[in-house]
Amino acid sequence: MNINELKIVVTGGASGMGRHFVEQLLADGASVSAWDMNEEGLASLKANYPKAPLHVAKVDVSKEDQVKQAMDEAWKQFNGLNALVNNAGIFRDSLLVKKDRQSGEIKTMSLSQWQTVLDVDLTGPFLCTRELSAKLVEAGASEPAVIVHISSVSRAGNMGQGNYSAAKAALVADTVTWAKELARYKIRVASIAPGFVETPILQGMRPEMVDKMVNQVPMRRLGQPNEIYAGLRFIVECDYFTGRCLDIDGGLRL
Ligand SMILES: NC(=O)c1ccc[n+]([C@@H]2O[C@H](COP(=O)([O-])OP(=O)(O)OC[C@H]3O[C@@H](n4cnc5c(N)ncnc54)[C@H](O)[C@@H]3O)[C@@H](O)[C@H]2O)c1
Repeated sequence: MNINELKIVVTGGASGMGRHFVEQLLADGASVSAWDMNEEGLASLKANYPKAPLHVAKVDVSKEDQVKQAMDEAWKQFNGLNALVNNAGIFRDSLLVKKDRQSGEIKTMSLSQWQTVLDVDLTGPFLCTRELSAKLVEAGASEPAVIVHISSVSRAGNMGQGNYSAAKAALVADTVTWAKELARYKIRVASIAPGFVETPILQGMRPEMVDKMVNQVPMRRLGQPNEIYAGLRFIVECDYFTGRCLDIDGGLRL
């Protein structure tokens, strides 16, 4: 597929990596529907590209009715769609069980920490993928389509991220499942597992924490959003790539 032929939904498009994807996709000639809960971010995106083929929608990807409505709107806006990036994601880190050294108090990951992350990072991509795929199949589209999940290096398991790791690993498993199920309709499904990427998520961390992270990376630096976009571009353009996950992590998992 050519990037400039894309009519693509990008979830979590108001900030960080998603915003970079939206801006690059527009620069490369695609039509983009950016979804996010951050209304301010969406408004500034729209203001920066008043004439571009850009549709924005306030959507919580974990809510079925909102996803259905936004998919209808975006489909109408561009007279069909042929791509989706499931990028919206959150983390709520906690150890499963922790004993406080001084008080002896036992702390645990709460059910809401577990469930909220699963809702956004796994149910969200399920709903978005299902709604777009159903529309494509119903339309009997003869043109190809592509769906990309943004997983994470944490898909292999990471201390303090039982919830996030579970969601990001499941996304890669369903990349295989849905690639197999949807190939007959010319829909490809792939994923990208980034390592540590310089986005607003990291700005909230203490500099010594970021240094500690960088020291684990063989390439000794953070990734940049444009390096993840290069992977997205490859997946879009390589029509024989499906069912696989691209690790873009500076060697973190080696
Ligand atoms: N930054 C990293 O180091 C890194 C590494 C690996 C994977 N990732 C993944 O990349 C993706 C983007 O991360 P980022 O670093 O750009 O984070 P970010 O926080 O800058 O962006 C995430 C966006 O998703 C939106 N969002 C959150 N919950 C939502 C919901 N329920 N519905 C719709 N939108 C919602 C947020 O408002 C935000 O705009 C996430 O899936 C994240 O897990 C990030």
